[in-house]
Parts: sequence; structure tokens; C-alpha cells
Amino acid sequence: MNKTILITGGAGFIGSHVVRQFVINYPKYKIINLDKLTYAGNLENLKDIENHSNYKFIKADINIESQIFDIFKQYQIDGVIHLAAESHVDRSITNPTEFILTNIVGTVNLLNAAKESWKDNFQQKLFYHISTDEVYGSLEDEGYFTENTPYDPRSPYSASKASSDHLVRAYYNTYNLPVIISNCSNNYGPNQFPEKLIPLAINNIFSGKPIPVYGKGENIRDWLYVIDHARAIDLIYHKGKSGETYNIGGNNEWKNLDLIKKLCEIMDKKLGKPTGTSSGLIQFVKDRSGHDLRYAIDSTKLLNALGWKPSVTFEEGLQKTVDWYMDNFSWLKNVITGDYEKYYTRQYQSR
Ligand code: NAD
Ligand code: TYD
Repeated sequence: MNKTILITGGAGFIGSHVVRQFVINYPKYKIINLDKLTYAGNLENLKDIENHSNYKFIKADINIESQIFDIFKQYQIDGVIHLAAESHVDRSITNPTEFILTNIVGTVNLLNAAKESWKDNFQQKLFYHISTDEVYGSLEDEGYFTENTPYDPRSPYSASKASSDHLVRAYYNTYNLPVIISNCSNNYGPNQFPEKLIPLAINNIFSGKPIPVYGKGENIRDWLYVIDHARAIDLIYHKGKSGETYNIGGNNEWKNLDLIKKLCEIMDKKLGKPTGTSSGLIQFVKDRSGHDLRYAIDSTKLLNALGWKPSVTFEEGLQKTVDWYMDNFSWLKNVITGDYEKYYTRQYQSR
């Protein structure tokens, strides 16, 4: 069946994997990638598919309502997969306003454009909003986030994502707009900007720089390989039920310090260095303000309803990730120039 799907944030980390998967798996769909190309957006992520006839890139800003309405007027859009966002907790602590604008106002602009353009007939239409497990807050040692866990966001990033989730549900309840939301745990894999823990550590080990571990490194995250998230998004887009929420997780919890030690072992082997070399770079630094202790997702609903489970083990995924960064050193070099250096100094010099 022919469809036109608008994917927002498709030049970013997760978005680029979703765009690639849809362009390749669904040659009859037209895939429009809408992205502002902020510091986190990079068209190099999509070099391999940029000339496919079913792919189109549009540079636009979801915060500018007129740009979004124009795109909906120009194209007969059947579905939206909304990933565009400001996504890094540390940046949200430094500059919350940017997160409110993009994550909340930007989402409302998209919801309004979809509602207006689809108003005559919501049949076969879908607004699929990609969200995070961070909206549920922070867990102690026990328990998991389910779809029924009350929202308790604690950082400007998670509060802005929670707000956007509420608005998406409000458009379902108030206007019957067909929507789905999924809330996923921490992703890792190729093309992730080196401000997040795993690619930042890989980059620093590469260059022999200290690996900054916040606090005592005891915080726990549930890691999922990005391709498995893209598979889940594909499945939910096609088989998910309107009005529903699906949690997506890796069932793969790691304390930050244990994860970094594991990564160091893999990097030592890869770089042909004696075991223990990279872990010598670990440096404990001042903790993140309001640092959530533990995230852990229960994705039973997605398994039972749609049969999804992760396909890549953490060992395989980390090895593939390290291999990718090593094989794509020019990608890394291109993103760590100028602005990144300034960000890094601002973020880490006072820790
Ligand atoms: P990312 O920061 O790598 O990419 C975000 C993309 O959005 C970039 O390409 C950027 O240019 C684009 N963008 C930002 N502001 C925009 C604007 N105003 N208009 C248009 N485009 C804009 O983020 P990511 O890690 O790929 O995350 C994608 C989505 O998935 C986000 O909504 C995030 O909240 C969610 N999510 C991420 C994770 C994770 O671990 N990374 C986990 C769960 C959910
Ligand atoms: P991050 O990759 O920023 O994802 P999130 O905050 O969305 O979970 O961080 C993952 C964990 O790693 C988190 O507990 C914070 C910690 N962390 C460090 O210890 N050092 C760092 O330099 C970064 C970026 C994160």
C-alpha cells in the first residue's frame, strides 16, 4: 500500500536508523525526513540511502508553525513518526527553554498540522510519538516502569517529554486524533552523538582523555541497541493500536561504572592494548544535579501484544558499536570540531 510518512528528527541518532529501515523495507512508501539539523542532526548518517527514490529530506523547524503547516499542505501525509527533540539531559539542565520550545511547542505544532490536514477523515492516519522512559521518574533498587506507572519527570528534559506525551494523549481524547506513544529506555549504537555516555567514553578512550563518571558511577540504565528500537517502532507503527502506549526496553540493566569497565575491556582488545589500560582513564567527577538513580522498563505488553523482544545481546551490541566508531573515525572527527569542544569544556571543566 502506498503511504507518505513524515519522520521528524530523521537526521538524528535514532531517527536515522528509523528512516533507513522504512526507506529500505517499504519501497512503496514515500519517506519524508523533516529535520532542523541542529548540532545533533547530521545528514552523513543517511548517505547510503539519500538517493533512494522513495526518500526526501526537508530542512525545517518544528517550532515554526507555518513551516509545518506548509509541509502538510504540500504533501498528502498519512502518518507521522515524531522523533525530533532536544534529547540530552545535561543540556536541559544548562538551557531548559530550548527543550520547552522544541519538545512541547514543536510537538503541538505537529499535532495541530496533522489535526487540520486530516480533519475530514482520520481513517488510516496515525500520529506516532516517540518518547522516553525518563517520564516515569527514578526507581530505587526494585521494580520496573510499566505503561501504568504514574508520570514523575525530574529533569527539564524528562518534564518536557512528559508534557508532550500528555498533549498527544489530550489530542486523542479531545479530537479523536489517532495517536500512539512509545516510551523507550536508553539507546546505544552507531551514529550517536558523543555527548551521551557510551559514544563519549569511546571517543575519550580513543583520544586517551579521562572518562568522566558522574558521582560514584552507581546509577543504573536499561540499554537497548538502536536497531532493536527501530524494529519496535516499525512494528508499533504498523500493528499498534490507536490510543495505546507501549514501553520498549532492553531488559538489560547496567550500573554506569560496570558498563564503562566492560567498554574499556572491549576497547583495550580492539586497540591491541594491555587489559586495564583504558580503565585507567576512569575519572569520578561531580554528580549531575537531580541525577535519576535507576531506569528499568517492563516491556511485557509489547512482547504479548506484538511479539517484539530485543534481538541483539549487550555484548554483541557494544562490540558492533565500538567497531562502527573505529571504522567511521571521519564521522566522529567531523562532529567533534568547534562547537563540540566548547560544549565539552563548558560541561566538564568545572566538574
Ligand atoms: P538526537 O538528539 O540524536 O536527534 C534529534 C534530532 O531532532 C536531530 O536530528 C535534530 O536536528 C532534530 N531536531 C531538534 N530540534 C528540532 C526542531 N526544532 N525541528 C526539527 N528537527 C529538530 O536524539 P535521539 O537520541 O535520536 O532521540 C530521538 C527521539 O527519541 C527523541 O524524541 C528522544 O526523546 C527519544 N528517545 C531517545 C532515547 C535515547 O536513548 N537516545 C531513548 C528514548 C527515547
Ligand atoms: P546519558 O547517556 O546522558 O543518558 P541519560 O541521562 O538520558 O540516561 O547518561 C547515561 C548515564 O551515564 C547517566 O546515569 C549519566 C551518566 N553519565 C556519566 O556518568 N558521565 C557522562 O559523561 C555522561 C554523559 C553520562
